[in-house]
Amino acid sequence: QSKTLVQGNIMLIGFMGVGKSTVSTYLCEMLAMDRVEMDAEIAAKEGMSIPEIFATHGEAYFRNCESNLLIELQKKSQQVVSCGGGVVLRPENVAVMRQSGTVVLLTASPESIYERVKDSTDRPLLNGNMNIPYIEKLMEERRPRYEAAADVVVNTDDTDIQSICEKIIAAP
Ligand code: S3P
Repeated sequence: QSKTLVQGNIMLIGFMGVGKSTVSTYLCEMLAMDRVEMDAEIAAKEGMSIPEIFATHGEAYFRNCESNLLIELQKKSQQVVSCGGGVVLRPENVAVMRQSGTVVLLTASPESIYERVKDSTDRPLLNGNMNIPYIEKLMEERRPRYEAAADVVVNTDDTDIQSICEKIIAAP
């Protein structure tokens, strides 16, 4: 069954630093849709930052927040959702996302990801592991899940934001 992009939501997935937030900002303007940033939404609900949630409650608690939020988001449409990089870790999240709309996987090389995230202090999973080999390892572990979840795959290495968004919109 084919889905058109304006039905339901656009769920942007992919590894940390692939450009989900940047693309979502641009895409929601182009399509006049609402924008949801999952990490920001969870941080606001919990009243603390993502690193604080990991430190205080642990990763499993954060993953529960993600699952609950995805279920809530599924009730609405016309949203461009910038998902946390780890949403694909739970198969039930993938099922909810696929019912929610079109799932767009953004990809980038470990080298470009490293350049984009190296100064970031809000990515607890890379704490103490901010290097290309570790990024590559984690990406490889997750790759099958990202690919299985995606309707559309768009690389963000060298292209400008406008053409990335055009590719997403033009996708079947
Ligand atoms: C995570 C990615 C982060 C954030 C959390 C965990 C992950 O989001 O949800 O630090 O497991 O890949 P971004 O992909 O927006 O950095």
